[in-house]
Amino acid sequence: MMDVSLFSNRYFVRPMAADDIGEIYQLCRNNVLYYQYCPPFVTEQSIADDMKALPPKKEAFDKYYLGYYDGEKLIAVMDFILGYPDPKTAFIGFFMTDVSVQRMGGGSNMIRDMCFYLKAYGLTGIRLGWVKGNPQAEHFWHKNGFTETGVTYNTDTYTVIVAQRAL
Ligand SMILES: CC(C)(COP(=O)(O)OP(=O)(O)OC[C@H]1O[C@@H](n2cnc3c(N)ncnc32)[C@H](O)[C@@H]1OP(=O)(O)O)[C@@H](O)C(=O)NCCC(=O)NCCS
Repeated sequence: MMDVSLFSNRYFVRPMAADDIGEIYQLCRNNVLYYQYCPPFVTEQSIADDMKALPPKKEAFDKYYLGYYDGEKLIAVMDFILGYPDPKTAFIGFFMTDVSVQRMGGGSNMIRDMCFYLKAYGLTGIRLGWVKGNPQAEHFWHKNGFTETGVTYNTDTYTVIVAQRAL
């Protein structure tokens, strides 16, 4: 069983629940750039839906919708799937930090600590996707050691670049 409190040495990490949606919404709604590339704009309902969403053939016990706290303040959310697309790989479906803490190294710190824990847990890689052309996401994931797999897929409104990092 994974212990998500070990995802970070610096921040308090816990699974989010329906009660937390209002707080998550406040964090998300200020990330205007992200929703320009990845519409539609966030709503409390879209967060509730994301909290339940699963990739094909995955079960709810493999899904972790996490909040990162600095003291009392929610500073990041992550949607994490264990064992997707294969048993030794984790998938980050969504990762977002509060605009008030961005560009101060917090996001990279969270990814670094998480990779350290997941490697010790026995995983060999992490996979994720970003919307083609979103400079914030592309630069961030490159900086954190993710590289394009060459796989892309299209939605009605944007193209997703699939990237991976070995642990
Ligand atoms: C991407 C994101 C998680 C980074 O969080 P953060 O707390 O700023 O993380 P860090 O301070 O560790 O990393 C900053 C790095 O992100 C990238 N970055 C952040 N903002 C950027 C911007 N406006 N333009 C280009 N690159 C940017 C850069 O690589 C930057 O490194 P630098 O400061 O050395 O140039 C945050 O900007 C965010 O939540 N964005 C909206 C959601 C999103 O795009 N999530 C990723 C796709 S799922």
